[in-house]
Amino acid sequence: MRPTIICHMSTSIDGRLHPSRFTRAAPGISWDVLRSHYEKVHDSFEADGWIIGRRTASEMAKGAERNIASAPKWPREAHIGDVKARKLAVTIDPSGQVHYGKDNIGGDHVVAVLGEQVSDAYLAELREDGVSYIFAGAKGGDLSGAMQQLAAHFGAQKLLLEGGGKINGAFLKHRLIDEFSTLIYPGVDGVAGSDSIVDYTGPEGDRPGAGQTLRLIHCEALEGGMVWLRHKVERRAD
Ligand SMILES: NC(=O)c1ccc[n+]([C@@H]2O[C@H](COP(=O)([O-])OP(=O)(O)OC[C@H]3O[C@@H](n4cnc5c(N)ncnc54)[C@H](OP(=O)(O)O)[C@@H]3O)[C@@H](O)[C@H]2O)c1
Repeated sequence: MRPTIICHMSTSIDGRLHPSRFTRAAPGISWDVLRSHYEKVHDSFEADGWIIGRRTASEMAKGAERNIASAPKWPREAHIGDVKARKLAVTIDPSGQVHYGKDNIGGDHVVAVLGEQVSDAYLAELREDGVSYIFAGAKGGDLSGAMQQLAAHFGAQKLLLEGGGKINGAFLKHRLIDEFSTLIYPGVDGVAGSDSIVDYTGPEGDRPGAGQTLRLIHCEALEGGMVWLRHKVERRAD
């Protein structure tokens, strides 16, 4: 069993990822009110935690690499830190590039999803920081197995997948998204090639959503003109 996974993102009307690039709020509309919707909706799901990709995690984690010498050879098996009933901050970091310096991001306990290829020195650093970790196969590509471990080892039943676009695309390809929760900001990015909220990077011609359909289950206009859409993902046999 794996947790239910809801991809929760805010975007411009053209599906772009970076709020700093969006047109400004219209006169009389508060930017702070628009921004506040994301966390409010996040909280309303009462999830067990959230998942982010390595690049997003690198921006959020504030630690520095420590290069611990003479680290023991750690077995490549799950390490469960002191979760203390906190929510989980799950980072998908196959080659162990994120440095935390503590056991949490914003108060939520970090669980790093790694490839078995990471160094023993890196595992020693995570253990010193109190960070939990699990392995997603040799190169970190077994996202499905990793999600099952989050349920088995941490009791996660519901997780929010919160970007960036690359990791959202990978989860879509692996059929791991059960619902999209999309907040559409009243603005536009408008530039060709700008990152979008689902940005699968796979072989040419591959369709990450193949065999899946989206059914609208909720549509709500929020204060300031943000629109909240919820789509259930249904699997098809074809
Ligand atoms: N709308 C928003 O407000 C919002 C929300 C979240 C993030 N963001 C922004 O999004 C940007 C980062 O987005 P992003 O899409 O470039 O990066 P991302 O999704 O955060 O991370 C991508 C990385 O995840 C790792 N990964 C692990 N398994 C993967 C797989 N199967 N397929 C693909 N990647 C996998 C790879 O790390 P390795 O390269 O180490 O292999 C890859 O480079 C940041 O600037 C962040 O601020 C915006």
